[in-house]
Amino acid sequence: MTWDERYQGYLDLLEPALKGCFGSERGYEFDGLLDAMDYSLTAGGKRIRPVLVLEFARLNGLEPEKALPVACAVEMLHTYSLIHDDLPCMDDDDLRRAKPTNHKVFGESTAVLAGDALQAEAFGTILRSPLPVEARAKCAEILAGAAGVDGICGGQFMDLSAEGHALNGEELSALQGRKTGALLAGACMLGAAAAGAGEKTVETAGQYGAQLGAAFQIRDDMLDVMSTESELGKPIGSDKRDRKSTFMSLYGEDKCDKMVREITEAACSTVKGMDADGFLTELARRLAGRRK
Ligand code: IPE
Ligand code: IPE
Ligand code: MG
Ligand code: MG
Ligand code: MG
Repeated sequence: MTWDERYQGYLDLLEPALKGCFGSERGYEFDGLLDAMDYSLTAGGKRIRPVLVLEFARLNGLEPEKALPVACAVEMLHTYSLIHDDLPCMDDDDLRRAKPTNHKVFGESTAVLAGDALQAEAFGTILRSPLPVEARAKCAEILAGAAGVDGICGGQFMDLSAEGHALNGEELSALQGRKTGALLAGACMLGAAAAGAGEKTVETAGQYGAQLGAAFQIRDDMLDVMSTESELGKPIGSDKRDRKSTFMSLYGEDKCDKMVREITEAACSTVKGMDADGFLTELARRLAGRRK
């Protein structure tokens, strides 16, 4: 099986599962909330985090189908973070995944609630899954860590607090490790934990994900300057407009490019012993050169 076939196979599992989360039952007074949740969850996106869950599950002996609830949960949590990130009180952006942002379509209050509900449903989806109870508890703990003060919320707070003043490299790495690295690390750990892998393996999975995340956010900062709205499916120039400190503002394109490549190779070495057919290595290298 080629790398592309494996990735596509994962998407073929994920897309119908995500559509099934909030896309069907209607006829209640909260249909508008479900519509807003479904709109952003099924708007596309690269699905990197749930693919990481499925691959780490497979590498640790769990069929990807059985890890699907955990994979959907991580994408729900990620989608919530995007809906809130785009709100006028945060980055104030109008386009996401090549579509108008959630608050542009459904209004701000519904967008806030759609994000809140996606976050809660992410935990519900893990805790209601048919996985062994210990695996469910471990997964919920991992996801909570990636979402809270040491993860997305802490990172987003640092990001917004720093608007208008320059951070140094160390501060920026701490910020980006939380806002982006924590959930990518969490996704890898979730796949391993869903499969019942031991502490050491879960830890190594998390280290790969954190390194992948560090490179991923530097590349995201580069694309905000170098890409186009039509290629990226989200606006460019938002970081400069919001006077954010980013790796691009601090180091410029050439140094960023070099950092992405070095961190990516470090991620590849982290999983050398577990990446039997090279999927994780190829994924990291493709993300390093991604255009969207
Ligand atoms: C965007 O994440 C937000 C960041 C953490 C940089 P992705 O680039 O994975 O967005 P989608 O899921 O493909 O839309
Ligand atoms: C936000 O980073 C990462 C999240 C936690 C959502 P950005 O603000 O740079 O993400 P984009 O560029 O809007 O996707
Ligand atoms: Mg942001
Ligand atoms: Mg943003
Ligand atoms: Mg960005």
